[in-house]
Amino acid sequence: MNITIVGTGYVGLVTGACFSEWGHNVMCVDNDQRKVDMLHRMEMPIYEDGLEALVRRNVEAGRLHFSNSIKEGTAFAEVIFIAVGTPPGYRGAANLSYVEQVGREVAENMDGYRLLVEKSTVPVNTGEQLKRTMSKYMKADIPFDIASNPEFLKEGTAIEDAFDPDRIVVGVESERAAQLMREIYEPIIQKTNCAFLVMNIASAELTKHASNSFLATKISFINAVSRVCELTGANVEQVAQGMGLDRRIGPKFLNAGVGYGGSCFPKDVDAFVQIADNLGYDFELLKTVQRVNKTQREHVMQMIQRELWVVQDKEVAILGLAFKPGTDDIRESPSLYFVPQLIEAGAKLRLWDPVAEQNFAERFPDQRYTKTPMEALEGADLLLVLTEWPEVKALEPEAMKKVMRCPVVVDGRNVFDPKVMHDQGFSYTSIGRPGIAV
Ligand SMILES: NC(=O)c1ccc[n+]([C@@H]2O[C@H](COP(=O)([O-])OP(=O)(O)OC[C@H]3O[C@@H](n4cnc5c(N)ncnc54)[C@H](O)[C@@H]3O)[C@@H](O)[C@H]2O)c1
Repeated sequence: MNITIVGTGYVGLVTGACFSEWGHNVMCVDNDQRKVDMLHRMEMPIYEDGLEALVRRNVEAGRLHFSNSIKEGTAFAEVIFIAVGTPPGYRGAANLSYVEQVGREVAENMDGYRLLVEKSTVPVNTGEQLKRTMSKYMKADIPFDIASNPEFLKEGTAIEDAFDPDRIVVGVESERAAQLMREIYEPIIQKTNCAFLVMNIASAELTKHASNSFLATKISFINAVSRVCELTGANVEQVAQGMGLDRRIGPKFLNAGVGYGGSCFPKDVDAFVQIADNLGYDFELLKTVQRVNKTQREHVMQMIQRELWVVQDKEVAILGLAFKPGTDDIRESPSLYFVPQLIEAGAKLRLWDPVAEQNFAERFPDQRYTKTPMEALEGADLLLVLTEWPEVKALEPEAMKKVMRCPVVVDGRNVFDPKVMHDQGFSYTSIGRPGIAV
């Protein structure tokens, strides 16, 4: 089937590459000419494991194309996915201007039936608004459908997720739209036997916000538990293990740390709170989730201040700038909180990240970036761990101690063993774990 995807970012490019791998003929459209040019040169505008090979293979097979023109994309395919950004806008609500723009341009250019699919994360009832937009801007009375197909991929394992989804959620209003969506996903349904859930559009839209908000709630919950652990001598990892083995709870998203970040959780929780507010429901639970996430960072900042006493002129090594391992995405990353705070307090920073350095350096060009984690540690008064990259987990405490000026670690991701660190003579603070593990 011919498919157009508008928006060639983390979601659009991965989705387009995967659809083409499943045998569809895909055109990825983006209005950022720089990205389109890079893709024509086979350079990836984002880092995602396995993406380059997948894109290359499908371009060479003639199934994957790139364009900067929605007009061209509209002519190319009957089904058009919207995968543009929906960044936070006024009072945390999603900014839907890019989504509207795509709807408008598709309406102005279509010459026959089209199915316009929301893949971007959008508030409930966006489908209704898109329908109105399409009707307003269409030049003639042409039949069309709207569908919602929320994306659940995780950056860092996005391709794996696409090839082995937990479920595919589709919101539709017509049999024709349901059949087209089924046809698109048939190869992966056949292969994995994953659930293919067909529902109404509002339910599909809401499923995405509810899923992300629930995962964020789990993170804030375990971070709140970690605070009680710190006050009682309990170990949050042991508590999480004890909780997670209960199949009703499950072990995932029970890692205490510096709080959630990234391009989805903060903005989707904010948007869900805002949607509920607009509808007249005060989503107090999620407001607390937001507050716990914010105070967790402040709490870690206090740990740093306690260790350094005077922050001014101290050398602080920060390992990890991406919001999680496996991606170069720094949107809403905890590093964007800690780096400005530490700069303001007068610390001298040495920053390391294996793939996010370039994105970070665009915002903080005057900072020192190192090629290796060990280089960042040389002469450091304190190490702050913000991303649990494998390279950080692999560091040898003995070697770390030799190069640091003071053996002080604030571990925002619980990557090191407290007992080992203590035995090596480190002043070691982690999240919700006593100094020496029992
Ligand atoms: N990144 C994730 O992990 C993830 C996961 C699930 C859902 N989502 C959702 O998917 C959507 C896209 O997220 P992303 O991370 O891929 O964003 P992104 O910023 O990486 O990509 C969006 C792309 O859309 C392009 N664009 C914007 N307006 C356009 C227009 N009018 N015409 C053509 N292209 C246009 C931008 O140039 C950009 O390349 C968001 O709603 C996000 O919440 C993201």
